[in-house]
Amino acid sequence: MLNKNTLLKDYKKKISEIKKHNSFYFNQDNPKISDKEYDDLKKEIILLENKHLFLKKLNLLSKIVGAKPANKFKKIRHLKPMLSLSNAFDKKDMLDFVKKIKNFLNINKENVELFSEPKIDGISATLIYQNGKLIRGLSRGDGVIGEDILENLKTIDTIPKIIKNKNIPKLIEIRCEIYIGKKDFLKIKDKFANPRNAAGGSLRQKNPEETAKIPLKYFAYGFGDIEPMIFKTQSDFLENLSKWNFTINPLTSIINGIDEIEKEHEKINQLRSSLDYDIDGIVYKVNDLNLQKRLGNTSNSPRWAIAYKFSAEKAITKIKNIIIQVGRTGAITPVAKVEPVTVGGVVVSNATLHNEDEISRKDIRIGDTIKIQRAGDVIPQVVSVDISKRDKNSKKYIFPKKCLCGAETKKELSKSTRKHDAVRRCTKGYECTFTAKEKLKHIVSKEAFNIDGLGKKVIEQFWDLDLIKEPSNIFDLNYNKIKNLEGWGELSINNLKKAIKKSQIISLDKFIYSIGIRHIGQENAKILAGFFSSIKEFSKLFDLKNRKKILINLVDLDGIGETQVQSIENFFLNTTNTRIIEDLINKLIIKDYVTQNSDGKFSNKKLMFTGGFKDMSRSEAKEVAENNGGKVLGSISKKLDYLVVGESKPTKSKIERAKQLNIKIILEKEWHKILNS
Ligand code: IVH
Repeated sequence: MLNKNTLLKDYKKKISEIKKHNSFYFNQDNPKISDKEYDDLKKEIILLENKHLFLKKLNLLSKIVGAKPANKFKKIRHLKPMLSLSNAFDKKDMLDFVKKIKNFLNINKENVELFSEPKIDGISATLIYQNGKLIRGLSRGDGVIGEDILENLKTIDTIPKIIKNKNIPKLIEIRCEIYIGKKDFLKIKDKFANPRNAAGGSLRQKNPEETAKIPLKYFAYGFGDIEPMIFKTQSDFLENLSKWNFTINPLTSIINGIDEIEKEHEKINQLRSSLDYDIDGIVYKVNDLNLQKRLGNTSNSPRWAIAYKFSAEKAITKIKNIIIQVGRTGAITPVAKVEPVTVGGVVVSNATLHNEDEISRKDIRIGDTIKIQRAGDVIPQVVSVDISKRDKNSKKYIFPKKCLCGAETKKELSKSTRKHDAVRRCTKGYECTFTAKEKLKHIVSKEAFNIDGLGKKVIEQFWDLDLIKEPSNIFDLNYNKIKNLEGWGELSINNLKKAIKKSQIISLDKFIYSIGIRHIGQENAKILAGFFSSIKEFSKLFDLKNRKKILINLVDLDGIGETQVQSIENFFLNTTNTRIIEDLINKLIIKDYVTQNSDGKFSNKKLMFTGGFKDMSRSEAKEVAENNGGKVLGSISKKLDYLVVGESKPTKSKIERAKQLNIKIILEKEWHKILNS
């Protein structure tokens, strides 16, 4: 029997070979081996992985297969962004979803009609038809910019190339999920880790003839842009698609109320294994398209839809050790290192233990036999401990009070709840090397600087090599050093250079989100960007005197509370933070924040609301105002242009104060009139 080291060496060599040939094929258009030789090489790797668990755990092949080849397809901006869905895992999450919708729309009706569809686990694509003719086909890409894969999509013969119907909108963009049937996958399973990877790989074949060889199918589920809009409901839309010869999923229903939600979820879950395609949950959508429009989106997902995932797969294993990880906000997370076990087709060797309280509540100890589950999260969780299997000599786990960097940790006291946070955090920020590394990973991530080719692994590697220690280093990389590293060639270096250069021009809201101030997520970053408008104004936070004044004003912003203001203050009090961020700013071109609709009905106006409206919630009113170019404040001051007064219980003192300050008052009726004008 070969020893582990030899096997690992052999495995890694084969992986590098594959990478090399991918580059010859995809990037240089110059394959050096035949398809058969390439496939054989892949098969050898899969064989090794299947035979040796420790190699399967490394899972290196699947990380290459389906990976995005560089600049192969033309990049095209989506007409409307392709968002993701938020997830629900149980009845409570679904009740929350429905409640939030009712609150947002301010409706008291018992039920909001929903439409249910299976969530197909494939690859999303969008098809654009102009005057009935398929003129463009894009992959999702990063959601904003997709890849032109029209020719490959055209090889799927069930996708209409022309819609033969008179009453179709001039422009219609149809969103669909491409998949490979489970049975068809069996024929090609040696080449890919799962059907989803296979579909992705096939769609991205450079040569559409190669795509045509693999039997791809699809279900149409939604739309992007439609002009003019002719549909009233999601069900109506899908019915029409079906009439126009698109394939739609047959397992759809109109749903009213939580009992029906649960029943449908259960029913489809039962059918799941008998279907010829993978599904991982049910998508529930508000059926009325007018309500969908009113509900709109948060940064990444629509408010009108949710994916109710099927229950997580579980497995039994044993805790070998408990280690500590430090997150980008300094959060100390305990992680159980467990004996490798397969959960839902994936080999798992780590499980999160969340925090100190969770460990004591469940009395989790090293050596314990535990049940783990993989839900939507990447890291599985511990469900329960089997105390009957516990060793007599086992000892309670004592949670470390110090960070891995040696610094003190603290549980923060929340100003609003007056309770201590369950999470312990390192107090050092960028001065803690563990936190700093995580902050870097956040900075390069998709929602932040979005630097292709500079993922978490590369950050780890460049950190260890002292190439990147803080954000500004990203823009002064020593490419001569990188050139000599394994896996880096001229082409990948050029691509990295390009991606980094591109990221140097960034919008103010993304910049604010990127620097990783605690409690400032994407939404809050936008609010702050709207307030500061330019990096020049934002930079005034660096100066203590200015900062004090600004922080007082920030409380006025709707959506920014005491917690956020405190967090911004703490961030800028730390001089290491400020130096690092100033250095970063010097490397960037930060674009002024432009509100979505600067020529809207409230462009450049500051509004505040008091009292409730009859058929619109405060959240919706706020969104409408912002979509019309306005800024919404949370308190009355001279800066305010309008106080909008709802009929239900407005605060009298606010109206009085507004009158004193000569602020224009808009009554509920007038508000609706302006919006409808
Ligand atoms: S609706 C986000 N319906 O899931 C905008 N999505 O996580 C509304 N998907 O990108 C999406 N089946 O690729 C919708 N019946 C279905 C779906 C579905 C699969 C995919 C889709 C989307 C992803 C969101």
